[in-house]
Amino acid sequence: MNVISVAIDGPSGAGKSSLARRAAKALGFVYVDTGAIYRTVALYCSENGISPEDHATVAAALPKMNVQLDYTEDGTQRMLLGGRDVSELIRTPEISMLTSAVAAVPEVRAYLLETQRKLAQVRSVIMDGRDIGTVVLPNATVKIYLTAAPEARAQRRCKELREKGMDVTFEEVLKDVQQRDYNDSHREISPLKRADDAHLVDTTCLDFEESLDVLVKVIRQYMGV
Ligand code: DC
Repeated sequence: MNVISVAIDGPSGAGKSSLARRAAKALGFVYVDTGAIYRTVALYCSENGISPEDHATVAAALPKMNVQLDYTEDGTQRMLLGGRDVSELIRTPEISMLTSAVAAVPEVRAYLLETQRKLAQVRSVIMDGRDIGTVVLPNATVKIYLTAAPEARAQRRCKELREKGMDVTFEEVLKDVQQRDYNDSHREISPLKRADDAHLVDTTCLDFEESLDVLVKVIRQYMGV
């Protein structure tokens, strides 16, 4: 069987995860959320009192972390840390911010590079992240850069967090979004940027179903089906 890879990159809150998950379902591919892998590494650092500034300690801890991906029957990706399901714990605003710093550690990026590549070797995947089309899968069958205006992204994230019962204001979520955009696109290694050959999808004025429709159409168009 021909293995297809779809790389979806873009800033925080552009809807990458939920859209990629649904698009993978529609196309029969496995969805890989690489942000969740970085988040799990950040959670380990947080629980073990390791500062992301201390690169040597972070690097030494990597082989001991035992970070695993698991999939439920409906194709939802779960993150396991030392066998414990941490899929919800990695979604707090504190871990989001810490992840941005952990993801800038070169040893972390190098360590996770092979993990991510291996996942795409054996089966057709839709993989989302920040550097999938530029670094992880430079030969991906389809590359998409999914974005939206910061205010639209903050609005969506705000709604998501409130639905989970978190007490957040639009202003603080927007500040977080802008800070993470800055961190992710200004770090030295693998900064967030659109690959030259990535197809741009801007979801600022699209609702979820419209965005999904555009995404699946673009993927099918590149696959020639
Ligand atoms: O997609 P997300 O919000 O779950 O990502 C969390 C953080 O991880 C974000 O600050 C960027 C970083 N990240 C990265 O640097 N490279 C990836 N491939 C995925 C995420």
